[in-house]
Amino acid sequence: MTNKLKYFVGNWKMFGDFTSFKIINKISNYFIRNLNTNNIKVILCVPNTLIYFFKQKMKSQTISLGAQNCHHYQDYGPFTGNVNAKMLKNSGANYIILGHSENRAIGESNKLIKIKIDSALKSNLTVILCIGETLKEKRSKKTFRVLKKQITSCISKNQNLSKIIIAYEPVWSIGSNKILKSEELKKIIHYIKFQYVKTFRTKKQPLVLYGGSVNEKNIKFFSPISEIDGFLIGGASQSAKKFIAIIKNYYK
Ligand code: 13P
Repeated sequence: MTNKLKYFVGNWKMFGDFTSFKIINKISNYFIRNLNTNNIKVILCVPNTLIYFFKQKMKSQTISLGAQNCHHYQDYGPFTGNVNAKMLKNSGANYIILGHSENRAIGESNKLIKIKIDSALKSNLTVILCIGETLKEKRSKKTFRVLKKQITSCISKNQNLSKIIIAYEPVWSIGSNKILKSEELKKIIHYIKFQYVKTFRTKKQPLVLYGGSVNEKNIKFFSPISEIDGFLIGGASQSAKKFIAIIKNYYK
């Protein structure tokens, strides 16, 4: 069991309505009764339609809320169907996922993600930047090259680095029930930290989360890998029972 602060971040994706507050409520109650809030940080990134409602209804602030993407423009503008980082912050979000592969897949470039990060940081949101290789890139042994490119083009030294968390999500692992071998995963997490420290000439290593098919059954596999600072959990975060079991089993 480690005393290091670990992040358990849920990414609800396109899921949930007002009745889904019961999920947050159950997680929050469990957290208050059973967990050491100094060691564990729980963040739920929910659809924009639910942020304000959940924020108002939550009795305690033990769980933080996050958004899942934003428009890159900092102010109001003619961008039908979009919301910017400032509007999300005003709704009650403190975190935002950016660069998720599901958005990269529909055209988000590293360049655009960098502008989004700038905008999110200006609005005082903490960024969870997703990086990761596709199966094709993995097979052609381009993983390290892809990760380096994503890190160096999405982040810059003059950004507030203390407000950027990296989530390593191999694209082929998302929703597939496939995870890396332990040695391979360790090597990649080391590489991300090394590359970041080298590129931005900082002594402070970034927080690196792992995401991709994390569930209550396989979480124990990750416990010995102390380099991982937490998890970005998709499908399993849509159920209070599974999300709580993930945290429980991680520390078992
Ligand atoms: P799954 O946990 O459903 O594989 O999703 C991972 C993810 O995309 C989190 O951002």
